[in-house]
Amino acid sequence: MRSRVWGPMEYLKYDVAVLGSGLAGMRAALQAALHSDGKLRIALISKLHAMRSHSVSAEGGISGVLYPGENGDSIELHGFDTAKGGDYLGDQPAIEMLVNEAPKEIRFLDHLGVPWNRTEDGKIVLRAFGGMSIPRTVFAADKTGFFMLNALYDNILSFQNIDVFHEHYATHLIVKNNEFKAFLTIDMATGDRKVFLAKSGIIATGGASRFFGFTTTAYSSTGDGIALAYKAGIPVKDMEFTQFHPTGLVPSGVLITEAARGEGGYLLNNEGKRFMENYAKSKMELAPRDIVSRAMITEINEGRGLIDETSGIKHVLLDLRHLGEEKIDERLPMIKELVIKTLGFNPSKEPIPVRPAAHHTMGGIHVNLYGQVMADDTSNAIKGLWAAGECGCVSVHGANRLGSNSLSQCVIWGRMTGEAAAKRAVEMSELPLEAEIKDDLERAEKEVDLLLSNKGSENPYQLRKELWETMDTYVYVFRTTAGLEKARAKLVELRRRYKDIYVSDKGSIYNANLREAFEIGNMIELAQVVVEGAINRRESRGAHAMLEYPSRDDKNLLKHTLAYRTDGVPRISYIPVIITKWQPMERKY
Ligand code: FUM
Repeated sequence: MRSRVWGPMEYLKYDVAVLGSGLAGMRAALQAALHSDGKLRIALISKLHAMRSHSVSAEGGISGVLYPGENGDSIELHGFDTAKGGDYLGDQPAIEMLVNEAPKEIRFLDHLGVPWNRTEDGKIVLRAFGGMSIPRTVFAADKTGFFMLNALYDNILSFQNIDVFHEHYATHLIVKNNEFKAFLTIDMATGDRKVFLAKSGIIATGGASRFFGFTTTAYSSTGDGIALAYKAGIPVKDMEFTQFHPTGLVPSGVLITEAARGEGGYLLNNEGKRFMENYAKSKMELAPRDIVSRAMITEINEGRGLIDETSGIKHVLLDLRHLGEEKIDERLPMIKELVIKTLGFNPSKEPIPVRPAAHHTMGGIHVNLYGQVMADDTSNAIKGLWAAGECGCVSVHGANRLGSNSLSQCVIWGRMTGEAAAKRAVEMSELPLEAEIKDDLERAEKEVDLLLSNKGSENPYQLRKELWETMDTYVYVFRTTAGLEKARAKLVELRRRYKDIYVSDKGSIYNANLREAFEIGNMIELAQVVVEGAINRRESRGAHAMLEYPSRDDKNLLKHTLAYRTDGVPRISYIPVIITKWQPMERKY
């Protein structure tokens, strides 16, 4: 038998294996447990401690029409705002699913114990968010993700049939004959390799915004699940659409919630002027994020920005002073604490330096309306495999997500995929056998061993740095063909150099170097997909703004990009967008 460099292989058998423990993953695991009445064995696998999943950082809130009829709000209007906000690239059956299901999920979470902000008489309070016609964002101060994840985790812990595997890094997804079989992981604490064989698998590993340097997302948001699917031959969809959140704190990029503007904050240029009146007169700072981000960068490019002396980063200002300390303490306490701790001043006294930061992956694994992972451009699904949350592109957000729609997406598709995965597991009698996937596992193990024993000279941290510079420079808020072509060439170079990577830590306990090596490989490949999709999309739509093609081209490009992995640049194809009730129109705010 071939000797292993490191760590024994262990086989674990589950009915449902959920990879990723953010809001979508936890909601999926909980639903699978509820559906099976405690009978199915469920694994919840996280690359971090489950409660450190990036959803914990979600700040401003979750959208849903809780009080239809009040202030003229309706489910229909939420759908319209979402379709228009997404520049009509969203699939409208998915948008309808989102807006219909969101209120139910918010109430479910209420029953689980999420402490939504309420009025004195107990009514849930709503706040304004960008691109929404009417305030319909439900929140728990500015720590909404933390409270939601906490409530789900508390409930998960009460189920004996859910096993939580913290700090298990997934290196491979194993699919055979278009059917899910297993996830291969490394237990970070011991170096043991664990194979999760399961009847049903759900990928819920979040987005990939960490392929940018200036981002609101955690160091861990490296798109691993999207990359696992892509490397297993599954197409990924619409990856050229990265959302830039207007208010990344300068210099760190940490999120300053849109709720700061929802509560009345202003954006100012270096003349002290609220410049949004030149870009979106009716919505001002609460225009959709793509529009606000472009306005900020235009101000900066035209010389009306400011410069952070220490980092040299150009920015504009977010002014909360007029809100007063009491309102900031009630609605935005974490933002206040963050600014005091990191910049050393109180935002009720001084404006905050901000700049658009990569925030959300609108694209992801190609899934159908029910979150089933699709095998190709046709209606063939991979049996037994779902993707939920930011990593699964059901295409509800189209080309530009509206703030607070993502938390709704996470819990709705988490619930839906958890239920479907549990149903399949109940109906299926046999688990996959080790023998069925022996060859795949040997191949996968060889890849892990090779990465560890490679005698190359490339430092993974240096590759990450160069990837960040490339993405921040050429694939940011405004793009050009020439810039994207430079990015394409650089990514080809990085992918070649990746083959020569050197993992200096050979140990088995918490080998963060090895994990980093996997992550950078994943990010380089996904960045190639972003750039290839962007070069081929010769129009401006939502978050994809091309200087040479300033208009939307519905005639030729009202379609989703699908990318397939090759040894070189990804192969691109297209599928139609599903338009049912909201016909594309000019997007004015
Ligand atoms: O600004 C925020 O609080 C972010 C919310 C979101 O991306 O949905």
